Amino acid sequence: MQDKIRVAVLFGGKSAEHEVSLQSAKNVIEAIDKTKYEVVPVGIDKQGHWLTGDASHFLLNADDPKLIALNNAGTRVALAPTGDEVHLIPLDEAGPPSPVDVVFPVLHGPYGEDGTVQGLLKLADVPFVGAGVLGSAVGMDKDVMKRLLRDAGLPIPAFITLRRGAGADYDGIIARLGLPCFVKPANLGSSVGISKAKSPADLERAVADAFQYDHKVIIEEFIEGREIECSVLGNGEPMASVPGEIVPTHEFYSYEAKYIDENGALLKIPADLPEPVIKRVQDTAVAAFKALECEGMARVDVFLRGDDEVIVNEINTLPGFTRISMYPKLWEASGLSCTELIDRLIQLAIERHARDTKLKTAHEL
Ligand SMILES: Nc1ncnc2c1ncn2[C@@H]1O[C@H](COP(=O)(O)OP(=O)(O)O)[C@@H](O)[C@H]1O
Ligand SMILES: [Mg+2]
Repeated sequence: MQDKIRVAVLFGGKSAEHEVSLQSAKNVIEAIDKTKYEVVPVGIDKQGHWLTGDASHFLLNADDPKLIALNNAGTRVALAPTGDEVHLIPLDEAGPPSPVDVVFPVLHGPYGEDGTVQGLLKLADVPFVGAGVLGSAVGMDKDVMKRLLRDAGLPIPAFITLRRGAGADYDGIIARLGLPCFVKPANLGSSVGISKAKSPADLERAVADAFQYDHKVIIEEFIEGREIECSVLGNGEPMASVPGEIVPTHEFYSYEAKYIDENGALLKIPADLPEPVIKRVQDTAVAAFKALECEGMARVDVFLRGDDEVIVNEINTLPGFTRISMYPKLWEASGLSCTELIDRLIQLAIERHARDTKLKTAHEL
């Protein structure tokens, strides 16, 4: 029998979504097909150390989302390109390097979803799940993302980008975007630093707040509508899942609504939508995926204004993978189990790597 494919699952990380990532990783590791794959869990602690250990106890309080934590007892390792194979090398003690065939980054937010880890994996020449360096970086930067969506002719909310120190004409912004409007740090996630500004004073406060998280802030026109999400899967010819709906019980889908308040939002899977609207959401999601240079997977979030106007909000290149997360749930509702989905994602990673390996790297006469 052929050896099993060794999949390093990377999780945790230096991000506000560290704990969400632990839950996502737990789910991925539980669901992965053990007859085909051997899991090598690699937890990244909040200081950035990479730790590996036994797949059975890499988490503490694994079943309690409030207390879940990384088990720091693992061996510190580094990923190194060592010629033909990629290995995890132990750092603190002598030990055999452990080979890795594929990496599945289950990291959310900066230092995981933004192209930084993808750059490392690309340098190490190892196949990895999900978007590459460019798609990840573009998906993380809401300003660049929206400019590319606009360039592809996709409908987006009107927006203005502010850079630190450049000053802002608040009257002009309000005249153009109206109130309320949304203020966001350009490079973050989980609704951290996001405000809905209802008055000129609110707006100035919200901008100052957002600048605490990033050097670039975007202000967007408020879209009154339903929040619909769609999962996309594939490389060259991506497919879209059935759409789902998020119904926040808060003023908007804030950090509190996402992670603190258990009843912060209702997930409707699938979303109750007429067939032509489902088709429009799916086509828009696939078009956004392509426009943003995505590969492997992404969740595309849109607003549905009125009965049928689909407006793109954002793309998430490493969506949540917890048991209750939209990305795997929408595939389940589309007929693809979590185990099949993970299998497909790993195969897509291997296919892309094989395709890239065929590219010439030097001029040949
Ligand atoms: N332009 C907008 N109009 C209406 N609601 C918005 C707008 N932008 C964001 N929101 C609300 O804020 C939430 C978080 O914004 P989003 O851009 O998705 O940031 P994040 O990347 O942190 O999820 C959305 O899910 C939605 O509830
Ligand atoms: Mg969002």
